[in-house]
Amino acid sequence: MGQKLAIHGGQPIRTEPYPEWPVADAREEELLLAVIRSRQWGGYHPFVAEFEKLFAEMHDCRHAVSCANGSVAIEVALHAAGIGAGDEVIVPAHSFIATASAVSRVGAIPVFVDIGRETYNISPDRVQEAAGERTKAVIVVHFGGMMLDMDRIAEVAAQANLTVIEDAAHAHGAEWHGKRAGSIGQVATFSFQNSKVMTAGEGGIITTNDAELAARARSFANCGRREGHGWFEHFSLATNYRMTGFQAAVLKAQLERLPEQIRLRQKNGELLMQSVRAPGVRFQIAPEGATVKSFYIVSAAIDEKEFGVGRDDLVEALKAEGIPCAPFYPHPLYKNPMYQDVPNRAEACPVAEEVCGNSFWLPLKTLMGSAEDTLDVVRAIEKVHAAYKPIEAGTGVSVN
Ligand SMILES: Cc1ncc(COP(=O)(O)O)c(C=O)c1O
Repeated sequence: MGQKLAIHGGQPIRTEPYPEWPVADAREEELLLAVIRSRQWGGYHPFVAEFEKLFAEMHDCRHAVSCANGSVAIEVALHAAGIGAGDEVIVPAHSFIATASAVSRVGAIPVFVDIGRETYNISPDRVQEAAGERTKAVIVVHFGGMMLDMDRIAEVAAQANLTVIEDAAHAHGAEWHGKRAGSIGQVATFSFQNSKVMTAGEGGIITTNDAELAARARSFANCGRREGHGWFEHFSLATNYRMTGFQAAVLKAQLERLPEQIRLRQKNGELLMQSVRAPGVRFQIAPEGATVKSFYIVSAAIDEKEFGVGRDDLVEALKAEGIPCAPFYPHPLYKNPMYQDVPNRAEACPVAEEVCGNSFWLPLKTLMGSAEDTLDVVRAIEKVHAAYKPIEAGTGVSVN
């Protein structure tokens, strides 16, 4: 019998909050002030081009095109890659809606494909099976900042003649065999939304090594303008998706901190995953080639029979113990009401269905403190396990 759980009136493991996120200090303030004083607050402030250059360099890419957020970044990337009406694009069934809705918004058809049970990333084998005559591209998501097997994806894509688009919204600074996320597919996108590993509240960027693709992306994100032509000359049906000078100012400062923050999260993330002893807790496993993980979130599945209580009860108990966490997306993307009406194709996705019911995530702030702060997550999981008797599945009877 374990200690009384906080959810049942016991003493919580933690009363101190985890470090605040996002992190900002005098550096963001200094750069923001410079933009305010410049009277050039829009996308033509020099910080925007400077940030693009710095981000591209850090991600082993020749080109980067900034934009308003990570959702429109995917639309811009698809457009720049020549994907449009009638084309099919393979997407993981388990992701944020933008991975699929961007495909629909350019007039193409998302094909939902299952993920791996251990990796939580799209399964290259399922991609191979799903690719057909009309399939032009695959969007891979490096879920939680853990890259998928990009060598295998490249093989499958070469066989099926698919463009590889990396939705790297979770994976700034992550690496596959020493190569940065965003540099392996033909084109990639990142998000700078508030919870991401570097942020300006909102923001996005497209990276590529293809100069022509980059020029099309820049034009599409900038009202159809082309470099070297007049301000009021528009060459394609496009719109204004530009990033502001304020966003670029904050992002320049955030980029300076990223490598050190990733090192800390990697250290604490590995410690967390190695320290949990309770049976029935299965953390996301990245393939060997994932040499740097950005640890945007920590994901784990709960086997109710082995652990003693199901995912939902565990999440509630952990929150009461002072550990921030949340269940996975409620259902695979194709079950969103919009996909009742919007054309799509869904392959069988038993793993995506399963993880929506048994998995949860911890936000990055749980890895941004000391080793002891991270070990509180372990203590809380062990405490919940000790408090429940692993008996019949579905009952999870508390002994306290
Ligand atoms: C995998 C994935 N792709 C795309 C996005 C969209 O990014 P944004 O919120 O910046 O539009 C998100 C946002 O959470 C995401 O998780």
